[in-house]
Amino acid sequence: MGWKVYVTRLIPDAGLQMLRERCQVVEVNPHDRVLARKELLPAVVGRDGVLCLLTDRIDTEVLDAAKGCKVFANCAVGYDNVDVPAATARGIAITNTPGVLTDATADLTWALIFAVARRVVEGDRFVREGKFEGWAPMLLLGGDITGQTLGIVGAGRIGQAVARRSVGFQMKVLYTDPSARQELEKEVGARRVELDELLREADFVSLHTPLVTETRHLIGRRELSLMKPTAYLINAARGPIVDEEALVEALRDQRIAGAGLDVYENEPALASGLADLPNVVLLPHLGSASTQTRTRMATMAAENLLAVLEGRIPPNLVSADVTDRLNLRR
Ligand code: DGY
Repeated sequence: MGWKVYVTRLIPDAGLQMLRERCQVVEVNPHDRVLARKELLPAVVGRDGVLCLLTDRIDTEVLDAAKGCKVFANCAVGYDNVDVPAATARGIAITNTPGVLTDATADLTWALIFAVARRVVEGDRFVREGKFEGWAPMLLLGGDITGQTLGIVGAGRIGQAVARRSVGFQMKVLYTDPSARQELEKEVGARRVELDELLREADFVSLHTPLVTETRHLIGRRELSLMKPTAYLINAARGPIVDEEALVEALRDQRIAGAGLDVYENEPALASGLADLPNVVLLPHLGSASTQTRTRMATMAAENLLAVLEGRIPPNLVSADVTDRLNLRR
């Protein structure tokens, strides 16, 4: 119970409360910003556990600074920010927060679909700028959603949730995934296809793969060139899945109709020219950003962290190889 824990940025109170009730020291980054490396390294020294975020790069340098630490509990479903093999080699458990943000992220994906296809952001700006002079037959025409083809790249939890929401819009659903998703096929009539076929046929290409070596720049110049000129690209997964420079070119040359982005290749920086384009909707990584969801993520991350400190296998352990070294039990 004399545990010392570090939290790399303020998270919803429910998660902090859980830690405070069961740990001796719970220190939270006092700044409302990502810690610089020279701040993060000393902050993790002498901790039993660290609750970290996707904006923290947890690499060998950090893991070595955190000598004796048992767990880094990432408050995100994605954990591409963590060198998991290096952590495992050092006997440090890594956990994530799957499931609790599926619906919020799927909802936000649909917000991007609507916003870009129906030019919601442009319309809002148009009205605020005092340009609205009444209904006009050719004003801000967008693309249809109902009855169109939705292409889901990566039909895991979030991809499937996005696909399920398309039923109300009578959409045809195509998907790519390493595994066949029979339930999804039954439920929404989805068809598993190769990526090239999906890109050629879909009116909305929505990305939901994790970021791993194989998915880095999965969507590049060639892939964008396969898409219809009337199609939209949606990315609420991870920025580096898309070659952002190639995307800027495709949008600028109107080789695709538009894009809705919640994530960026070099987040928070944007590729040169991206913010100048009218046919892209840009959000600041809001996929899971509802009060309820962020609270659930915080408590889940806290529960994962506490489980390891208490000698239990955490509910969301990313790599099982550490359980014997840490002597974790069910
Ligand atoms: C995640 O959890 O990986 C999202 O990107 C942030 O909620």
